[in-house]
Amino acid sequence: MELFSLKNKTAIVTGALGLLGKEHCKALSEAGANVIAADINELECADFAKTLQTESMGSGLDVTNPDSIKKLRDKVLQKFGHIDVLVNNAAINDMFENPKAAAEQSKFENYPLELWQKSVDVNLTGVFLCSQIIGTEMAKQKSGSIINIASTYGITAPDQSLYIKKDGSQSFYKPPAYSATKGAVIMFTKYLAAYWGKAGVRVNTLTPGGVENSQDEFFIEKYSAKTPLGKMAKPTDYKGALIFLASNASSYMTGANLIVDGGWTAW
Ligand SMILES: NC(=O)c1ccc[n+]([C@@H]2O[C@H](COP(=O)([O-])OP(=O)(O)OC[C@H]3O[C@@H](n4cnc5c(N)ncnc54)[C@H](O)[C@@H]3O)[C@@H](O)[C@H]2O)c1
Repeated sequence: MELFSLKNKTAIVTGALGLLGKEHCKALSEAGANVIAADINELECADFAKTLQTESMGSGLDVTNPDSIKKLRDKVLQKFGHIDVLVNNAAINDMFENPKAAAEQSKFENYPLELWQKSVDVNLTGVFLCSQIIGTEMAKQKSGSIINIASTYGITAPDQSLYIKKDGSQSFYKPPAYSATKGAVIMFTKYLAAYWGKAGVRVNTLTPGGVENSQDEFFIEKYSAKTPLGKMAKPTDYKGALIFLASNASSYMTGANLIVDGGWTAW
């Protein structure tokens, strides 16, 4: 199991307070890493970091703001001296505050520019900025693993019929910015893997499929029927893949996309 050990490694997770971010932090800590749980709300990050089993810390972070990322980098280097793993996990998954307006707003024809821009800023520019500011430290130390979290919707288009209710009505369309930004993350990963290969920094994508999280029953049923394994993921289903990509177990892997989707993209 030595291959999978992250003992004495320092790992930063962005979007650490989200459904999957918390599981990524727990997985890295269980494998021995000191984890920096970074998300918008600094106090909540600090509270959450206390629940991790290794020497960890919480930090406020806005992945769209270079100064905020530099502050985090400096704080982590001061405390731990090195950064070995970066999980670019923060993302916007559009929610529409007014459910009545959601059907109209989420339609491609009406999708607001502000929402498109916000997703580009967080899902794509955030990955670029964190990789540039934190990854450069890895390149200087000649080692590191960057894991960019994409989505099956960055590989295959969303099937909008999944959102049609049993009565034939549709109150939501999966918006275009999510697919476009996640597809771009997969390509950015390849770019950076090629660029930093000789610098010893590995860069890979982890592509999760949909996680069951109190969605409407009709949606869970339809999603599961479209998945070869017959079910949606649990939030803990990505822990093994994450540790694999973060550790020496994947030492000859870079520029790859590890798809963990219950078979969603297999047919
Ligand atoms: N949940 C799923 O079904 C699913 C499926 C495929 C891929 N993914 C991907 O996995 C990752 C995590 O998803 P999740 O379901 O945990 O999402 P989530 O919405 O639960 O969490 C996202 C987190 O990102 C944070 N965040 C947003 N903007 C930020 C910013 N500017 N700076 C720092 N943090 C910011 C939010 O505060 C939130 O805690 C995302 O990249 C998502 O696209 C999720």
